[in-house]
Amino acid sequence: MSKVIQVKDLKFAVSYSEEQIQAEVKRVAAEINRDYAGQEPVFLAVLNGSFIFAADLLREVTLPCEVSFVRLASYQGVSTTGEIREVIGLNMDITGRPVIILEDIVDTGLTMAHMIDTLKRHNPGSIDICTLLLKPGKLQVDLDIRYCCLQIPNDFIVGYGLDYDGYGRNTKEIYTLVN
Ligand code: IMP
Ligand code: MG
Repeated sequence: MSKVIQVKDLKFAVSYSEEQIQAEVKRVAAEINRDYAGQEPVFLAVLNGSFIFAADLLREVTLPCEVSFVRLASYQGVSTTGEIREVIGLNMDITGRPVIILEDIVDTGLTMAHMIDTLKRHNPGSIDICTLLLKPGKLQVDLDIRYCCLQIPNDFIVGYGLDYDGYGRNTKEIYTLVN
């Protein structure tokens, strides 16, 4: 029987062990070290969900680099599309710099698509997405995801930074909702 945890009113069973996650994080970090050799990337970790992933991945990155923690804030503004999103916490100049976004999970992909549109206005040299998790079955937009640790089914998951209603982030494993 796999380990089951309770988060608020729901039960979750372990899907990915600490060892599996760490092996994938190390694999992706090695890819980044290889691909970005000779460059000094800026890592933008998207809060809150990516904080543990970012901490583990960045300790495997051997390149000279900078790190910034950003958040996507939505607000209603005067625009034809209705919703305006801004990247907050970007307190550095990324003009001409290679940017690597660190995200916890890409689901529909809408969050990342918005983020890339917004970042492009700051004229970075390049932008790559590095996500811990991807649900390929839910992707709604055409998104180029260069780095991905684990592809997962369409189920709801928690742990290793990801939450259910604010809880469940503080685990070493990743858990899937038990129906
Ligand atoms: P997207 O815009 O649909 O790609 O949604 C991405 C965001 O939704 C992530 O950054 C997460 O915060 C959240 N999310 C999507 N799926 C899950 C899940 O299974 N567990 C926890 N959060 C999720
Ligand atoms: Mg997120």
